[in-house]
Amino acid sequence: MNDQANPDATASPEAQATAPGERLAGRGRPAASLVYSNARRAEAGEPESLIFDVQGLKAFYGSFQAVADTTMAIREHEITALIGPSGCGKTTVLRCFNRMNDLIEGARVEGTIRYHGIDIYGDKVDPVEVRRRIGMVFQKPNPFPKSVFDNIAFGPRIAGYKGNMNDLVQESLTRAALWDEVKDKLRESAYALSGGQQQRLCIARAIATSPDVLLMDEPCSSLDPIATLRIEELMIQLTRDYSIVIVTHNMQQAARVSDRTAFFTVDVKETGMRTGRLVEFDTTEVIFTNPRQKQTEDYITGRFG
Ligand SMILES: Nc1ncnc2c1ncn2[C@@H]1O[C@H](COP(=O)(O)OP(=O)(O)OP(=O)(O)O)[C@@H](O)[C@H]1O
Ligand SMILES: [Mg+2]
Repeated sequence: MNDQANPDATASPEAQATAPGERLAGRGRPAASLVYSNARRAEAGEPESLIFDVQGLKAFYGSFQAVADTTMAIREHEITALIGPSGCGKTTVLRCFNRMNDLIEGARVEGTIRYHGIDIYGDKVDPVEVRRRIGMVFQKPNPFPKSVFDNIAFGPRIAGYKGNMNDLVQESLTRAALWDEVKDKLRESAYALSGGQQQRLCIARAIATSPDVLLMDEPCSSLDPIATLRIEELMIQLTRDYSIVIVTHNMQQAARVSDRTAFFTVDVKETGMRTGRLVEFDTTEVIFTNPRQKQTEDYITGRFG
């Protein structure tokens, strides 16, 4: 196993000495991950690196407009949280980021989403390749009805992976902080794992195809607080290699793990049409301590939604 496979191996001694709870408190990051953060880059005078440059995105299902004009920039090696009341379009926006909405009949988008400068809805772009680079983890753990090993190996096999599959499976499970718990159960059904283990398996499966971004739609909503904490720690570790966009209804979770937060709300038109709208997008610190918009403040303090 190399250092890449074990993110903790690269952490500084101070970071390793920090208890897991302390790491999460107040969005405290393990020291090593800061090396990659855009804040650190900015301090060093390096330009921030964008994963997604979203300009004027609108999402429709048939004639129904689910999301109004949205412009935002998602930065590399950060966790970006999408929050807001039910129906405000969080899942829809997330699915736009890897063209998952293409699979829904009648769904269409306007505007542009540039991924590392490339318009992912451009004519020459292969949506399958988009989804390989931009992986997704869903609300409910959805392992395949296969063994633990085959769940991880499935994607790489389809992609024609030529390397050592045993090593890749071990590395993916190690990165997802699951290896120790399943190393003696690799041939058993994934359904024999607990819910929290299944969710980490799904994260390992998403990682196995070497994506660049992980989109997570309420990944902890069916998990207990301990499993939730493990996934949160895992997300923070993963920002060394990946960029993460997470949808969550859990305000504490957004505050604990994310670097930036986008708050969406729902506008109801006279016709009754309910369209989601981005109200405010800023650093998580600003959104949670000093939001510019009253709607944001009302939501995060629990007065609305
Ligand atoms: N497949 C679909 N077909 C038609 N309308 C859809 C579809 N998926 C979502 N919508 C509609 O789009 C709007 C936004 O839905 P979306 O699932 O993105 O909201 P959300 O913010 O993720 O909500 P929640 O917090 O409940 O998950 C809603 O009005 C919803 O009914
Ligand atoms: Mg949703």
